[in-house]
Amino acid sequence: MKPSPIVPLIVATLLFLSPAIAAPPYMQTDTAFYPYAPSLLKWEKTEAEFTEPETCGECHPEKYEQWQGSMHAIAFKDPLYQGELNLAATKAGHGITRQCEGCHTPAAVVKGEIKGAGLKDLSPLALAGVSCDVCHSVKGHTHWETPSHQPENGSLVLSPGTNDGELTKYGPAAPDEDCGDGFHTCVESPLHTSSELCASCHQVFNHRTHTPLEVSYQEWRDSPYSANNIHCQDCHMVDTKTFKRSADELVRPERSEYRHYFNGANLFLYDMTARAAEKNGDKDLAANAREKYAMALARLKAAAELAVFPVYRNGRLAEIRIRVKNIRAGHNLPTSLTNIRQMWLEVTATDADGKVLMATGSPGPKGALPKGTRIFNTQGQDANLNFSIYPWEIETFSKNDTIPPKGFRDVIYGLSMEKKIPVTVHARLRFRQADQEIAEKLLRLVPDPGHLEKIYGIKEIPLLPVVDMTETTVVINTP
Ligand code: HEC
Ligand code: HEC
Ligand code: HEC
Ligand code: HEC
Ligand code: HEC
Repeated sequence: MKPSPIVPLIVATLLFLSPAIAAPPYMQTDTAFYPYAPSLLKWEKTEAEFTEPETCGECHPEKYEQWQGSMHAIAFKDPLYQGELNLAATKAGHGITRQCEGCHTPAAVVKGEIKGAGLKDLSPLALAGVSCDVCHSVKGHTHWETPSHQPENGSLVLSPGTNDGELTKYGPAAPDEDCGDGFHTCVESPLHTSSELCASCHQVFNHRTHTPLEVSYQEWRDSPYSANNIHCQDCHMVDTKTFKRSADELVRPERSEYRHYFNGANLFLYDMTARAAEKNGDKDLAANAREKYAMALARLKAAAELAVFPVYRNGRLAEIRIRVKNIRAGHNLPTSLTNIRQMWLEVTATDADGKVLMATGSPGPKGALPKGTRIFNTQGQDANLNFSIYPWEIETFSKNDTIPPKGFRDVIYGLSMEKKIPVTVHARLRFRQADQEIAEKLLRLVPDPGHLEKIYGIKEIPLLPVVDMTETTVVINTP
């Protein structure tokens, strides 16, 4: 008997439907809508080209200078990023690393210039990372169309200009007649005054499961700052004094107070940027990066507060309770790469005889933290529930111990009963960008091994700076 043509059709239909029936345990991305998936960037392709920051800087020199020493300017060149990108390309392939590149150098991704890790033979636009024309070509976003229905993985729409090649720049204010000086036209964009602009890139989700991995925006959205209309720009695009006012008084800065600093907590990279500039004999850029370092230090020092409380049992001092308060970070403390950043408590308690009752959290000679140190971080795990620090592997978390905005965490330390009152407690909240070993591992992975010496003039990886965010000393007597 001749097989009916219907049978293969049914088989084909069943084959086609079966993935839907045995629904995969993850969210799929519509690749027709998101052609750069797993990056969720979109590009309105026209005759208009992206412009290098140096060109924008000719008419906007102050913005250029402020941006230049910032993490956005080195988002692609960042050697820690390059190291991890290189590893991701080896382990997961370029089909996956496009996700990384979509946030770390978006214009070069839509133009198809980036093929993986390394800085060789790339255009100045590609090397410029999150450059002027990335943010000011943002016409809109697709936050609600993403698989997670959240801003994630660069869900922005880039549109540098119109079909007749005219450049269109989106900015915060209503333009006047000669806005753009004939070089570009100006469009007023309320998006640019809101956290929604920053959200798409400051939310890293796993490319397969869409598990939220870095969620500064989500943390902000659930905070008193969002409820009071204080946005990312109000703390990160202003000087230290204005940032403190935004955080304390919950009033938005004046338009004239905004600056393109995008300053956060990345001390190590500001230091590396300064080293690279010094090596190149660029004194201005070196000074600029050192200023950004000082600014990040001030921001970290303003973020938290400590309080120490004695706990008595049967009239005797039994424990101390240390409260860590997030007083000025608009999101959790720490935020974003919370599985890599380290914020921890270093505490010592001594009695009246000078006997050390308890000591915890002092880094060893090579920077390692001792067991039992209280770290406020997250720990990711891969599909097999093994510990992982890599965004392409992490699908779930085994720990989340970061501190919400205007919130606190209490840590309790027991004390032995054998002690002479009064007891002196010295507590410090300390921060560094990464565990020394992890930083060294990533830096060793940069694609061009001579890169660190050629660009930064370093042979040995320096100890990552450790910052005292805040400290307190309290003398405890009997109740
Ligand atoms: C949704 C946008 C986005 C995606 C996708 C993304 N990143 Fe990032 N990445 C960021 C942001 C934003 C930061 C900065 C956060 C901070 O400073 O704490 C960052 C920081 C980093 C850092 C830390 C750099 C430093 O100097 O401390 C590394 C390393 C990194 N990313 C690697 C990757 C790799 C590898 C991938 C792809 C597997 C990736 N990123 C995907 C946005 C993204
Ligand atoms: C990460 C995104 C981002 C990058 C990168 C960026 N900007 Fe902006 N820019 C903004 C935002 C947000 C505002 C609005 C701040 C405010 O509310 O005044 C702004 C405002 C502006 C304004 C209007 C300022 C005013 O006072 O009205 C100009 C001009 C400008 N940017 C130029 C530049 C130039 C030039 C560069 C590169 C050197 C650059 N921007 C890089 C986000 C960005
Ligand atoms: C030939 C000079 C010139 C160049 C080059 C130039 N701009 Fe402008 N731009 C202006 C002038 C003039 C204004 C209006 C005054 C102001 O805001 O500084 C302006 C305004 C803006 C605004 C504010 C728009 C608003 O309504 O809030 C943004 C954003 C902006 N430019 C971004 C850029 C970016 C990004 C580049 C590079 C792609 C660039 N400009 C290159 C001259 C220029
Ligand atoms: C196109 C993607 C993109 C957009 C849009 C974006 N960022 Fe970023 N941002 C990044 C990346 C990538 C990094 C990390 C660079 C690195 O560490 O290598 C970063 C880093 C930062 C940092 C960390 C600096 C530090 O010192 O640790 C701050 C703060 C920041 N961004 C604020 C903002 C704010 C505020 C906005 C919105 C006005 C914004 N970003 C918009 C991609 C973006
Ligand atoms: C009320 C002020 C405030 C607001 C609003 C705010 N931040 Fe921050 N941010 C801080 C402070 C303070 C720090 C330094 C302490 C820390 O690392 O959390 C910081 C640090 C950061 C860092 C660097 C983290 C690291 O370890 O490298 C990033 C990235 C960042 N913020 C992004 C954002 C984004 C995106 C938004 C908006 C969704 C935002 N911030 C809103 C105050 C603020």
